[in-house]
Amino acid sequence: MQYKRILLKLSGEALMGDRQYGIDPKRLSEYAKEIKEVVEKGIEVAIVIGGGNIFRGVAGASNGMDRVQGDHMGMLATCINGLALQSALEAEGIQTRLQTAIEIKEIAEPYIKRRANRHLEKGRVVIFGGGTGNPYFTTDTAAVLRAIEINADAILKGTRVDGIYNSDPEKNKDAIKFQSITFKEVIEKGLKVMDMTAFTLSEENKLPIIVFDMNKKGNFMKLVSGEKIGTIVDN
Ligand code: GTP
Repeated sequence: MQYKRILLKLSGEALMGDRQYGIDPKRLSEYAKEIKEVVEKGIEVAIVIGGGNIFRGVAGASNGMDRVQGDHMGMLATCINGLALQSALEAEGIQTRLQTAIEIKEIAEPYIKRRANRHLEKGRVVIFGGGTGNPYFTTDTAAVLRAIEINADAILKGTRVDGIYNSDPEKNKDAIKFQSITFKEVIEKGLKVMDMTAFTLSEENKLPIIVFDMNKKGNFMKLVSGEKIGTIVDN
């Protein structure tokens, strides 16, 4: 196996499947199965999930809502997705713990780094909800922050695109995919991998980012086994 401990970043939108909003149970269960395969190989898996399928703070702000208020709603949305993912994983027989950056103790454990580490060592999947617990930060930043804190070997960003291209592959059919690229090149070429806060945090802490297509069956397993799937951003 290529990795011992990874942090998987999933977007909230991915959970929508073909829907316009909310959670598609079929997609959720497909993800749970993909994650199960990897956990059963003995890889320690932590997960950060976005909340955009339910609420986005930025969208709220553009409609006149106070940004901080909107971001708080977004943080709660990530907790809802975390609970959904926890249920789906448990239905597959995988032990999980949900830890949140904002305390909602009756529903989930508060985030405690040392406890998260113990859970991972015991083979439990740890889902981090509530983003960083602060407004004005994205769940990408939360993912990088938690990955660094738990000493993950890499952050695996599961998206619907199979890597990083020199232009948007959904708009330009001649777009060329990079198999690997450095942090510096991403900035020089003006490519968008994550928001700058998340990206520079990753660069400064030498945490590789791998962007891959999570919707293609078996991809996640192939990636952690060392196959060249997606695009790796490294120093
Ligand atoms: P070990 O001590 O390593 O076995 O971990 P553990 O998570 O099983 O220990 P613990 O006895 O603390 O937790 C038992 C269950 O309670 C687990 O499902 C936890 O997720 C849950 N739990 C622990 N602390 C909290 C909390 O503050 N809030 C909520 N809602 N659940 C909690």
